[in-house]
Amino acid sequence: MRAIVFEELGGPEVLKAVEVPEPEPGPGEVTIEVAYAGVNFADIKARADGYRVESLPFRPGLEVSGLIRAVGADVGDFTPGQEVAAFINGGGYAEVALAPASSVFAIPGGLSLRTGATLPSVLPTAYALLHEVARLRECDTVLVRGAAGGVGTVAGQLARMGGASAVYGVVSSLDKAEHALKSGYDQVFLADTFDLDVLRVTDGRGVDIALDPVGGESFRRTLSVVGRFGRLVSFGNSSVEEPWRIGPGDTYPLGVSVAGFSILTLAATDPQRLRELAERAFHTVTEGGVELPVSAEFALADAAGAHRLLESRTSTGKLLLRV
Ligand SMILES: NC(=O)c1ccc[n+]([C@@H]2O[C@H](COP(=O)([O-])OP(=O)(O)OC[C@H]3O[C@@H](n4cnc5c(N)ncnc54)[C@H](OP(=O)(O)O)[C@@H]3O)[C@@H](O)[C@H]2O)c1
Repeated sequence: MRAIVFEELGGPEVLKAVEVPEPEPGPGEVTIEVAYAGVNFADIKARADGYRVESLPFRPGLEVSGLIRAVGADVGDFTPGQEVAAFINGGGYAEVALAPASSVFAIPGGLSLRTGATLPSVLPTAYALLHEVARLRECDTVLVRGAAGGVGTVAGQLARMGGASAVYGVVSSLDKAEHALKSGYDQVFLADTFDLDVLRVTDGRGVDIALDPVGGESFRRTLSVVGRFGRLVSFGNSSVEEPWRIGPGDTYPLGVSVAGFSILTLAATDPQRLRELAERAFHTVTEGGVELPVSAEFALADAAGAHRLLESRTSTGKLLLRV
């Protein structure tokens, strides 16, 4: 079967389509004939910076949709031919992917395989950030950085659905602002000035919840617009800067909470909790009308093209590989 691998870290050109042996499911595992693979920013970080790459060659890809091809022992009700979506720890950019049954989901109510591939990473992440970690309450004000990307597109809609009184987004360009304004955001600010803008629209009070995937020095700017008793959630480091260290000396005078979340760690350490989260999150799509539009689709062999687009910072919504 064909799969995308990289043998060295580097630019998109290190992604190569190669022939590899098809995986066989062990106990508690299934294989999936992949229809679509989701492209995530974490794949870029893996390829460029070695994020969570334990050894080379490495096979990227954290989420897929497709048909169950084969099942190992003890996988519950999964049967060959069933339409599923899965969150996996690598190897999704492939014709056949190996997945732990614990993070495989029957495609929820009437959704297509294409939509199914957009769900496993972004939906549970955005849902967990708002509801589990930040504990969104009605009338909270919410700020989301990276508002036009995968997580950001869903987080805006979920915040609105959860009763937020105002949802503010931060993006790097005006084109992206247009997309975010259709995704639950009341106002969208440019990254260069967002801290001043937030303080202006909140009369200096700041927001109740801020979600930050940028990290580095710019994390300090996000903290500066979190109001008293606010919650700041760190969930990425897209700036590639050294993470800014924050401690009690910074937080207790302000009365704010700083927290974090990683879906990869949750999947590895508590798959049952991820499953519960994912089911609640998928419900917001099937019953609540939350949408994650696919803005571009690439052939498997052109995974490099998808990475180039995501890295160009011009994409919105979700990017998929068509297998
Ligand atoms: N912790 C978790 O469990 C978890 C799960 C999923 C995703 N994430 C994180 O959430 C973020 C979004 O992930 P995604 O897969 O949905 O990707 P995405 O948002 O579709 O694309 C990446 C986003 O990062 C921003 N960005 C890119 N380069 C940047 C840079 N050098 N400095 C600042 N911002 C930059 C871009 O927004 P602008 O151009 O508008 O700034 C873009 O929207 C990523 O940081 C990812 O690592 C975390």
